[in-house]
Amino acid sequence: MNSPIIEIDLADWRQAQARPEWTAAVEDGKVLYFPRLAFALQDGESALLREDMLAAGSRNVSLGADGALKGAGGSPEDRARLGAMVGRFREQALALIDQLLPEYRGALRVAPTSFRPRQVETRAQSVRADDQRMHVDAFPTRPTYGERILRVFTNLNPDGAPRVWRVGDSFEAVARKFLPQAKPYRLWQAKLLNTVHVTKSLRSEYDHLMLQLHDLMKQDEDYQKNGTQLTMPFPPGSVWVCYSDQATHAVMSGQFMMEQTLYLPPGREAHPEASPLAILTRLVGRPLAGVGAGQGR
Ligand code: SIN
Ligand code: FE
Repeated sequence: MNSPIIEIDLADWRQAQARPEWTAAVEDGKVLYFPRLAFALQDGESALLREDMLAAGSRNVSLGADGALKGAGGSPEDRARLGAMVGRFREQALALIDQLLPEYRGALRVAPTSFRPRQVETRAQSVRADDQRMHVDAFPTRPTYGERILRVFTNLNPDGAPRVWRVGDSFEAVARKFLPQAKPYRLWQAKLLNTVHVTKSLRSEYDHLMLQLHDLMKQDEDYQKNGTQLTMPFPPGSVWVCYSDQATHAVMSGQFMMEQTLYLPPGREAHPEASPLAILTRLVGRPLAGVGAGQGR
């Protein structure tokens, strides 16, 4: 496997350069890694790096575009400070992407920003929810129709603990391996899921296949253990960027991370032919992302 990690030497969130080869790399499912790009904590913020900043029953803390903080524990003062910290990360992440990937200017939609204070290695989860297993991100409830999931991550761990990922083979290799095992798409099932509000809109064949790949990858013990993969420890004070719907990944350990998701409409990539939608469409041999695609099957 060619290295799935592209290292970029940058120390200032607002000074990123754009290079066509970096755009091509991230659109090919590689992880752009910035070992010197630290998120600087301000006064009092290190006190927010504790697990009980997560409210009981929440998975993550998230800051919406409206400035509302959800899922946070701590005192009202802690929460105000946390909102400011996560908001500063959002601004820096958006500035980074604006300069690193100017091709996407004006097309990206900004998702809530998340702070994840839980320790990864002590989480017990079902196979499908277990992100310690290699997967590509796919949403069971929110169909995307090929909209891309671009993510910016930073490790904030105060004790030097890296966030350890495994990064695997190309999306195309994984799709070729698992597509033959995928259950066929059924429009009536997609309609039923929508009617009973399991999904927020009608699941397309693309969304069905992405979920199938996600589940089949996680369920395959041999692939998890022996599939092509690289273990990558992202140290505190570093940033990494990838298309998480394309880069095959798993998170093995770590605690205290922030993440910004940006959505790019399908086809707005510099190289749309490298996208999961294009790859799956080619492999399956018919359009997959239209609502009602696959009608009659
Ligand atoms: C994931 O998308 O699988 C989680 C990544 C992380 O928590 O580091
Ligand atoms: Fe993931």
